[in-house]
Amino acid sequence: MSDRNDASEDFKTSRRNAIKGMLTISGLSLLSVLSFGSYIAKERKVVYEKIRIANIKDVPKGTAYTFNYPFSDLNQVDISGPCMLIHLPNGELKAYSSICTHLRCIVRYSEENNIIQCLCHGGKFDPQTGSVLSGPPKRPLPEVNLIVDSNGDVYATGVKIL
Ligand code: FES
Repeated sequence: MSDRNDASEDFKTSRRNAIKGMLTISGLSLLSVLSFGSYIAKERKVVYEKIRIANIKDVPKGTAYTFNYPFSDLNQVDISGPCMLIHLPNGELKAYSSICTHLRCIVRYSEENNIIQCLCHGGKFDPQTGSVLSGPPKRPLPEVNLIVDSNGDVYATGVKIL
């Protein structure tokens, strides 16, 4: 009888140890996955170049100037291409990707209407924010970060992708 109880107790103990072992392995596996995830996240950090676009004197108020800026989206997909620097009628400078977020047609700044338009399917964007005003696009235009130095030179320094 006592041998039977001992065997039963041994079985319970070994089962408990096996479960503890599996939980430990699961925990270590989870930590590995989390570490790898943060490694990928670090690798995805994008470093942007600082590129001179133009001098502010070259872009009168109410006009736009086209330039190219290399950047990629949050999935590291290269979406470089034409961008536009807009000198708004109120004197502010804004810059956006010129690639429509609907089906990638090139958008244009309409000086007459102070609006960014896509002629492919009638998408319209706000030149103050890059947000969609109307039409099929669902996402705003990626905004290019700008700095202006004391000589009036305007530089692209990165991209905000919303
Ligand atoms: S591609 Fe611009 S609205 Fe369709």
